[in-house]
Amino acid sequence: MPPRLWKVALPLLAAALAPLPLAAQQTPAAAPGAAEADLDALLARMTTAEKVGQLVQRMGGRQRALNSRLTPEELDLVRRGEVGSYLHVAGAEPLRALQRVAVEDSRLGIPLLFAMDVVHGYRTIFPVPLALAATWDPADAQSAARIAAVEASAAGLHWTFAPMVDVARDPRWGRVVEGSGEDPFLGSAFAAAQVRGFQGADLSAPDTIMAGTKHFGAYGAAEGGRDYAVADISERTLRETYLPPFEAAAEAGTASYMTAFNALGGVPTTGNVELLRSLLRHEWGYDGLLLSDWRAIEELQAHGVAGSRAEAAKLALEAGVDIDMVGDVYAQELAALAEADPALMQLLDEAVLRVLRVKRDLGLFADPFQYHDAAREAAVMLAPGHRAEARRIAERAIVLLRNEGGVLPLAKTAGRIALIGALADDAFSQLGSWRARGQIEDVVDLRAALEAAHPGVTYVAEGVEAAVAAARAADVVVLALGEDFDRTGEARSFAEIGLPQAQQDLLAAVAATGKPVIAVLMGGRPLAVPEVAGQADAVLGAWLLGIEAGPAVVRTLFGEANPAGRLPATFPRASAAVPYAYDQLPSGRPASEDLAADTVRWRDQPIAPLWAFGHGLSYTTFDYGPLTLDRATISAIGGTVTVSVPVTNTGPRAGDEVVQLYMRDPVASVSRPVLQLRGFRRVALEPGETRTVRFTLSAEHFALWAQAGAWIVEPGTIELMAGSASDAIHARATLTIEGENVADRSPASIPVESGADVGH
Ligand code: BGC
Repeated sequence: MPPRLWKVALPLLAAALAPLPLAAQQTPAAAPGAAEADLDALLARMTTAEKVGQLVQRMGGRQRALNSRLTPEELDLVRRGEVGSYLHVAGAEPLRALQRVAVEDSRLGIPLLFAMDVVHGYRTIFPVPLALAATWDPADAQSAARIAAVEASAAGLHWTFAPMVDVARDPRWGRVVEGSGEDPFLGSAFAAAQVRGFQGADLSAPDTIMAGTKHFGAYGAAEGGRDYAVADISERTLRETYLPPFEAAAEAGTASYMTAFNALGGVPTTGNVELLRSLLRHEWGYDGLLLSDWRAIEELQAHGVAGSRAEAAKLALEAGVDIDMVGDVYAQELAALAEADPALMQLLDEAVLRVLRVKRDLGLFADPFQYHDAAREAAVMLAPGHRAEARRIAERAIVLLRNEGGVLPLAKTAGRIALIGALADDAFSQLGSWRARGQIEDVVDLRAALEAAHPGVTYVAEGVEAAVAAARAADVVVLALGEDFDRTGEARSFAEIGLPQAQQDLLAAVAATGKPVIAVLMGGRPLAVPEVAGQADAVLGAWLLGIEAGPAVVRTLFGEANPAGRLPATFPRASAAVPYAYDQLPSGRPASEDLAADTVRWRDQPIAPLWAFGHGLSYTTFDYGPLTLDRATISAIGGTVTVSVPVTNTGPRAGDEVVQLYMRDPVASVSRPVLQLRGFRRVALEPGETRTVRFTLSAEHFALWAQAGAWIVEPGTIELMAGSASDAIHARATLTIEGENVADRSPASIPVESGADVGH
């Protein structure tokens, strides 16, 4: 088939109305909406080298140079059909040129896939993912992902390596910034929302991109919070805590997954037949694309489960890994292996088909150039609406952690403000880890925003003496504390996650002036900052909030925005007090604050964390009414219950409350967590307004991973609790489950329908 025939347009309507000319009838088998059989026909025409080529993902270039660095030798690989996809490439025009080489100069003209880590924005950079989760509103994350897809697809990209859905309960792990925090239920909602945002309803639309949900399956459980370390966890913990967001992403239709770097109980994920082939592919029935992480196939040797690159290639293919990201192991080893072993050839064919299918689903066989429209690229990048959405979402991600004496919000007439701390002036940091094509000049940082909003601002970067002098001369101090962007992200694990000594000294000296101190706490992880809680009058959890970070914080400081973000992960009191998550098992000696009692706790500090999961204050106040159930008893088989709680804004300002629904199964066949999130809803309330928030749960939401190795809904009572945080429960009710049933997926991955009706 001459490659140019790929370009033949095949409007379906015209095809239906008129007999096709011969040339069009010879259009490559994989035309728009190509049937599986057509891809089979294409596969049948491929040489082994061309098949392997589809599984090879190469790096297009570094940073800004991108594919402009592609050498003639590299282009020859494309011409020979030995590359299936590129990562870290971008640009409508350069990628059109590269795609043209694949489509017009290779024997079969199979289009390339172009991928990048578009994680929290492409050019319009949104809050880092952990901060997006702090909105407790998956619609916000969906919107951010949607805008990222619009921009990335206009820059020629088909595929993002996101969302990162690793549940993370050890904030020493640097990659905690990339995910949605510690909870599988919250994480599932955010995973599904982001997949929907990236992929939209139609993957073949020119403004949607394929999601690459990562890093399957227990990367977040890396031991000691050390990146790449083994996850040595029970099957129950794997199923109940780490896998649900991946399951939710599958339900939302993720077109691809990436495997984790680490090993699970000694078996490296990228060669883990049980995890990838038995669980993901067979048990979940996932037939989409699976790619390795960066050189992770090659790394099977370093893990010590492959003695050679060939063994590594074989292990990964057998486990079900379709694409080798960057490692070149498939490129160099797979052809010989497959030609010597029909079983491997069969696996190779299956993997190739999965790659071809996503290319078809993205519409690339119909129009390989539909993502390469330079005019669209220029029009959508950092569009005003995108920036406005970045601001809106940044405001919604801010968490008011502490507000003693109502020091916040500041009055417009606040007088002189001393703005202290280098982070206030660090625009680059606000782009966070994975900034795609985010630009420092797009960022409005705290200093710029505060100076623009308020006349009497004195800025001091650091240095105790100057800071104290500025504080003395001011009416109020805004102190930027925390971590810059480079402290979180891949390979950025730290054993100490407290404030650096210099910042502790600064805080102590400034607080000693007696001036009101408002700490703006930045960073991409929960920090162990008891000094901040102890010395600052108010603390705003301000993460790394993207290009509109400064305006979002300033509007919050002055009360133009009323903070309603909630912590998606526990803030510990000490670096040594991790991992810690709110959904602990009770143990035989449940934790108490009584130091003399022998309970599951440390002796040298309170067991309660600094700020609990779900914590976040407001400039207004809320009252909870009683929790009511529409029935007291449900059947384990198909039963549903609607849980309602009225919430009233009892304060003077409009504000959002995040109503959180928790459950506890007090007596079960296995010990159950003291609390588990099973519903949440962010509601906007005017002063005096009441809304009744309702959640509809099914019996499956109460299932547990039983000793029999199945999801079981057990009979008995379930305690239901509503509150404004995991440590602020305001209303309780009890539900009875009758009978027993087997559920087919993890309860945390199942969405809960919720609503907020006006009035009681
Ligand atoms: C990271 C992945 C990322 C990939 C490509 C790896 O080092 O672990 O999350 O998608 O690089 O950039």
